[in-house]
Amino acid sequence: MRSHLLNDLTAEHYRRSVTEGVERVAAKLAATERPFTGVTVDALAPRIEQIDLDRPLHDTTAVLDELEEVYLRDAVYFHHPRYVAHLNCPVVIPAVLGEAILSAVNSSLDTWDQSAGGTLIERKLIDWTAARIGLGPAADGVFTSGGTQSNLQALLLAREETKTHDLAELRIFASEVSHFSVRKSAKLLGLSQEAVVAIPVDHDKRMRTVALAHELERCRQDGLVPMAVVATAGTTDFGSIDPLPEIAELCAQYATWLHVDAAYGCGLLASRQHRGRLDGIERADSVTVDYHKSFFQPVSSSAVLVRDAATLRHATYHAEYLNPRRMVQERIPNQVDKSLQTTRRFDALKLWMTLRVMGADGIGELFDQVCDLAREGWRLLAADPRFDVVVEPALSTLVFRYIPAAVTDPAEIDRANLYARKALFASGDAVVAGTKVGGRHYLKFTLLNPETRPADLAAVLDLIAGHAEQYLGESLDRAS
Ligand SMILES: Cc1ncc(COP(=O)(O)O)c(C=O)c1O
Repeated sequence: MRSHLLNDLTAEHYRRSVTEGVERVAAKLAATERPFTGVTVDALAPRIEQIDLDRPLHDTTAVLDELEEVYLRDAVYFHHPRYVAHLNCPVVIPAVLGEAILSAVNSSLDTWDQSAGGTLIERKLIDWTAARIGLGPAADGVFTSGGTQSNLQALLLAREETKTHDLAELRIFASEVSHFSVRKSAKLLGLSQEAVVAIPVDHDKRMRTVALAHELERCRQDGLVPMAVVATAGTTDFGSIDPLPEIAELCAQYATWLHVDAAYGCGLLASRQHRGRLDGIERADSVTVDYHKSFFQPVSSSAVLVRDAATLRHATYHAEYLNPRRMVQERIPNQVDKSLQTTRRFDALKLWMTLRVMGADGIGELFDQVCDLAREGWRLLAADPRFDVVVEPALSTLVFRYIPAAVTDPAEIDRANLYARKALFASGDAVVAGTKVGGRHYLKFTLLNPETRPADLAAVLDLIAGHAEQYLGESLDRAS
């Protein structure tokens, strides 16, 4: 069994095994004609169920053959131009190379004595990101597992900075279309059920600052504590960017922590053309960036950045067996002192490889292309009487719904759209997402693939219309 341990004696076995796996995936990617096969849970589950984990195959080729059956064949492929559903990106090759290296070397980024150069690389990337944001000389941060964890950590720091002991008094203000991780974080942080105040949005789905000002004032008058405002720079559904300068102004006025959730919009940090859309972000106390969304990085790759490095102390604990206090005096950089995690992947390496091979402009160009594609898609939808499209895209999403000419019942239109999404998924021809707007069911394109063409969007819209019409036809038959 020792032959399976990666070490000096097995370097050749490692090379052959990984190459065999890479070749399988490369062949698969080259031959994938649809983003999904449409496999059902009922069809797939028995194939996985029947595998006896206590009876190994002892042969890499046989295991890869089996994996083809239970995973590779029916996986959902984000690199396909007609996967236009969630905030998942096709990944850039330098980052995939980084992924292969980081899992083989297997550094753990909690302490210097488990990572050495890895720690310094992560720190440099944090500094690079903080500088792109404009957080100033005292900034710092740490890589996390994703936007959810970054938001949680930011709000933990905000809670600790309020110096209020009565958690029931704390309030967080976030737009009604902010990410659900804000509410989840509030719960995990022990805040009350009323802690998150939903601020209404304007027609473009941006937080109404007049409403925010009103709620902040009301909070003060009620003797409560405004713990944080979460401004979203790229909402999950609409890509809308809250008015950051005005929100920053209000936070200064009410001495409130400003967290900017730029999980999605962070790609603009690399864009020469559109960086200005994030103006005001430099006034944040903390920022979430998800490189695994708009920097084309493999999952996971995210970071939380803070204006004042000292605030990260709220996540610091010392243990003799890991990061004893004396190491701080010895100036040994232990990233665990800043993180909610202990053992932690060297995800930073993927971004490092990306920046060293492609440069930030390369990433920015790719993100600009998907934003341009979204505008093309909007023009298509706005000119198509079969569809209602909600807002002009601020980044790269489009929320729309099929509106049949002959049907006025909104509930029936809901059902037609729900059916169309499911039928499309079952066909595997394309994958789109869904959401609700004003209580009604809508469909969503999240465009993160620069290889998707306007013609793909037009074709997917035709497929959606076809499925919706089929549903409505059958519905008529059922009624008659
Ligand atoms: C605006 C926003 N914030 C946070 C998150 C959570 O990120 P993750 O899925 O990486 O935890 C998302 C995910 O879509 C998001 O869109």
